[in-house]
Amino acid sequence: MIKVMSVFGTRPEAIKMCPLVKALERDSGIESIVCVTAQHREMLDSALGYFEVKPDYDLNIMKRGQTLSSITADVILGLEDVLAKAKPDIVLVHGDTTTSFAAALAAFYAKVTVGHVEAGLRTYDRYSPYPEEINRNLTSKLASLHFAPTELNRSNLAKEGITDGIFVTGNTALDAFQYTVKPGYVFADDKLRTLDFDNKQIVTLTAHRRENQNGGIENICRAVLALSEKYPNLHFVYPVHLSPAVRNTVFPILDGKPGITLTDPVDVADMHNLISKSHFIMTDSGGIQEEAPSFHKPVLVLRTETERPEAVAAGTVKVIGTDKERIVAEAELLLENRSEFMRMASASNPYGDGHASEKIVSAIKNALK
Ligand code: UD1
Ligand code: UDP
Repeated sequence: MIKVMSVFGTRPEAIKMCPLVKALERDSGIESIVCVTAQHREMLDSALGYFEVKPDYDLNIMKRGQTLSSITADVILGLEDVLAKAKPDIVLVHGDTTTSFAAALAAFYAKVTVGHVEAGLRTYDRYSPYPEEINRNLTSKLASLHFAPTELNRSNLAKEGITDGIFVTGNTALDAFQYTVKPGYVFADDKLRTLDFDNKQIVTLTAHRRENQNGGIENICRAVLALSEKYPNLHFVYPVHLSPAVRNTVFPILDGKPGITLTDPVDVADMHNLISKSHFIMTDSGGIQEEAPSFHKPVLVLRTETERPEAVAAGTVKVIGTDKERIVAEAELLLENRSEFMRMASASNPYGDGHASEKIVSAIKNALK
């Protein structure tokens, strides 16, 4: 038996790791263990509950106002004991959060092999996204197995001298749809249930990134306000991240405004089905850039860069930054120009076939046999 410990702590890691945990659990040659750091609490638990994944270890580190250093220190110290007790053959981490980097470092200190899921994404700008670009760089240095979603991600790793142990698998984000997207879906969230998808053009909006917390999120909110005043048929839905840094900006500007629904974070099935029924998406999220192409929904990325150029090349994603006038102009283009809308809506998803988890499981078995 190969003992595989998956370590994750935030919402996006949970959404992309739970399908892999399920695939590991199904394999009779693998003992699957899950350790959550709970860098996020409620947003993590929502995803764990939806996928019915019960962690074996829970470091429960989340604090209000947590800093990057406190997350890093708490994860490393917490995992020291867990790794000594569980003695896994391999630790799997995901992506680019501080949990991912710190867990990989803790595993390295314990001389446990590290497998990096969603490896090889890069912007080459160390402060954007911050701190994710450096988190994933450092995680690549610590990992021995690299599960790269695309060939481009593999070539990014090769440029850094990493050529061994790379497996191109697609992104497990797409695997999650098997669990979440269903015909005749009824939203769990009360506010989503009241949306008029037949008569309104629903635009799903999310913004939370640290580098947008210094004015970017405020600009985004002001652009949305201007758009909703100009286009009464538009209806914006913004599930607002639980970070106080985000909520303290968003609610004073958008709460109670006509044509705008603010909700608490919704569960993953609500979110995927909301994306599937939206006219288009505005977001600074990483994961949503990978999900929306599956539903043929244009995505305006509220950032100055992306580590997901495949979706830009495919045509679904456009990087527009956080300048208020530019956001308004790009949204208007999608609303007024049918051929531009259709160009973005007709691309196919470059992030795989929804079976990345199975490919990762067989790569682990081959590598560790
Ligand atoms: C983290 C990740 C980011 C990822 C994002 C996904 C780092 C440094 N950042 O950023 O890469 O894109 O998650 O959402 O790893 N909070 C709650 N309940 C929750 C979750 C968060 O109350 O369930 C609040 C807490 O006050 C917490 C704050 O949000 O202190 C910020 O959380 P944190 O994980 O530090 O940063 P994120 O912006 O969520
Ligand atoms: N998501 C969700 N509920 C929400 C908002 C987002 O389930 O209210 C999902 C979304 O579909 C995607 C993931 O959360 O799978 C993205 O997480 P986030 O934007 O927080 O992080 P990022 O991907 O930017 O790291």
